[in-house]
Amino acid sequence: MSKTIIVSNRLPVSLQHKNGKFEFKPSAGGLATGLGSIYKEGENIWIGWPGNDVDSPAQRQEVIEELKNLKMAPVFLTKEDIELYYEGFSNETIWPAFHYFTQYINYEDSYWKSYVEVNRKFCDTILEKAEPEDTIWVHDYQLLLLPMMLREALPQATIAFFQHIPFPSYEIIRMLPWRKELLEGMVGADLIGFHTYDDMRHFLSAVGRILGLSNESGYIQADNRLVNVDSFPMGIDYEKFAKAAVSKKSLANVKKFKSLLGEQQLLLTIDRLDYSKGIPQRIRVFDELLEANPEFHGKVSMIMVVVPSRAKVKSYMELKEEIDTLVGRINSKYSTLNWVPVHYFYRSFPFNELSAFYAMSDIALVTPLRDGMNLVCKEFVASKTDKKGVLILSEMAGASKELVDAVLVNPNDMKAVKESIITALNMPEEEQILRISAMQASLKKYDIFQWVKVFMSRLAHVKDKQKDFQSKAIDQTFINELESKFKAAKRPVLFLDYDGTLVGFKARPKDAYPDKELIDLVGRLAERCQVVIISGRDKETLGEWFAGQQVDMIAEHGVWMKKQGVDDFELYAEVDDSWKSDIRQVMDYYVLRTPGAFIEEKHHSLVWHYRKVESGLGDLRMRELFSHLKYMASGHNLQVLEGNMVLEIKRPDINKGRAATAFLKGEEYDFIMALGDDWTDEDTFKAMPKDSYTIRVGYAYTQAHYNIKNPTEVRNLLSQLVR
Ligand code: UDP
Ligand code: G6P
Repeated sequence: MSKTIIVSNRLPVSLQHKNGKFEFKPSAGGLATGLGSIYKEGENIWIGWPGNDVDSPAQRQEVIEELKNLKMAPVFLTKEDIELYYEGFSNETIWPAFHYFTQYINYEDSYWKSYVEVNRKFCDTILEKAEPEDTIWVHDYQLLLLPMMLREALPQATIAFFQHIPFPSYEIIRMLPWRKELLEGMVGADLIGFHTYDDMRHFLSAVGRILGLSNESGYIQADNRLVNVDSFPMGIDYEKFAKAAVSKKSLANVKKFKSLLGEQQLLLTIDRLDYSKGIPQRIRVFDELLEANPEFHGKVSMIMVVVPSRAKVKSYMELKEEIDTLVGRINSKYSTLNWVPVHYFYRSFPFNELSAFYAMSDIALVTPLRDGMNLVCKEFVASKTDKKGVLILSEMAGASKELVDAVLVNPNDMKAVKESIITALNMPEEEQILRISAMQASLKKYDIFQWVKVFMSRLAHVKDKQKDFQSKAIDQTFINELESKFKAAKRPVLFLDYDGTLVGFKARPKDAYPDKELIDLVGRLAERCQVVIISGRDKETLGEWFAGQQVDMIAEHGVWMKKQGVDDFELYAEVDDSWKSDIRQVMDYYVLRTPGAFIEEKHHSLVWHYRKVESGLGDLRMRELFSHLKYMASGHNLQVLEGNMVLEIKRPDINKGRAATAFLKGEEYDFIMALGDDWTDEDTFKAMPKDSYTIRVGYAYTQAHYNIKNPTEVRNLLSQLVR
């Protein structure tokens, strides 16, 4: 039976050394608590670091055994790994960068080296346990290289990746010296998930700009694999929190806590110690609030839970000191014998005590400066079984995209946060109930189980889509078959598109001239069969490039034709060019507005090129031009066509398919093969007789029977035909 292997840096339990014995405690943090509810099904297993260094082989064995009972397997990290990979690259490089705290980024090469090594360590452990049909689901920023490492070892495996923290704008990613490797690592997965659409679009933009991989509606064509990128906002185990809030244990805790605190309105804040959470800012706001509103003294207090985290990282140590100082200051300033403004706890709490905090607090103040999702706010809402309570939520948390009925604030706007607290303290009960009910309905529906289900069904969907392509990918058996058919044929013909098929793309179209290898190859093919170069290029360029070769040429998608041995091109289609000046004016305007764009004028078409335009801008302008031209084109009976970084306008009845059909008419070929790389070649494919071989370069959807990777592979294939 196939299983799912969940992989994350931290296991959902962390190892503690107590009185010479090991103990496991639940780990804090959204990833561990979120997935903690779902990994136990079937044969599934969770692989990760148990959260401490364990040196001796005997102790390691003990940990392995203990974890096995919990359906987990450890990856042991040495002290050095912890320092360089975990505290270092993960938490001093990626974490600050991805949360937009660029001032804290540490660009340390030894951190990077260790990051690569530890990702490799994870890979090795997984490979010991993985069967070919298993699903491997990698989580979070500590393991960005792992998907590709796994892919290299298991090319056919089902590999998914989910990132629990934000994915920042390209402007941030480009700062990292290792940006390319990190992105390459991620695209090893079949499905890449983020919490929000913003994270997803930032990722797609970075992949486009840094790896040069474009996407269509979230599908990236990476090498010969289709990768899907999508957003999946993570939910919580709703029922667990709703039930706990009314459980005996929690109710007893609420009673106990309330009797200690007396009659007060309670503000709750719960976070791991992290500068991304905006904890000092929050204390300052509360301080200002008390300063300006003495009527709240003795009536309102804050319960502030700060869970220790990454305590050896400098920025975290400094943060701890800052929080201690601020809490000390506010409490010493306002406390009375029977009232303390901030009840501050620097530790984690058992589930039933947390649940009691959620249930008894009037307001949750969740104001991170940046947060991938934030589960605390969701847990608070789920715990409000009487529907009374107010959530104040930062716009910078992923959860704000879903919880639109919270009081949303910009956490940097201290005045707004202060006002939101006053609003919350005074919010009528009916409004509280309306807001909480709406949020509960959504959280109930999109809970953690639903999240896993949706993610897994997307993963299955991508794998199915990939299969469509794989069944068409050319392999050696096929090449052998082709070779023997070709060799046996008496009158073979090849229709070869030029750009993107025989040569790769160049920034300037004229630089893509045929190199010596290609000239030789075409020469050898021409001795053995009829070769037809069928291209959108103008006749002058093709004529010059293939001068003296024994080939036929179809230029400008079928406007011109030159038979081998004949001196000049002949008009193959009647055309009227009176439309050109109108259209050219419009295209010129878009060139003026778009640095890097230019127009290519062919005899019977106009082409707007944007390959050299800044990425993003080119697409934007192309779309604009497209709709502009489409409108004009209908008046002139023209067709606007999107090509590889070009927009071309021409008469609709002129296309490669028409030309190829005319070419084949009345001839008796016994081996026909057509190769091309874009939609203009689809017309050729469609025009080919049934038993022809049609091959599309690249792994796009196609009418062709086969796909081949790139021009290099095309050349290999053609060479094998004449070897
Ligand atoms: N949490 C915990 N023990 C505590 C306090 C909090 O396990 O004493 C949990 C909390 O219930 C939540 C998680 O830690 O599920 C924090 O996740 P969140 O997404 O809010 O922030 P992260 O720590 O992932 O940045
Ligand atoms: C966030 C991250 C998790 C991480 C958790 C706790 O939730 O997304 O990957 O496990 O914080 O941080 P720690 O460094 O203690 O694992």
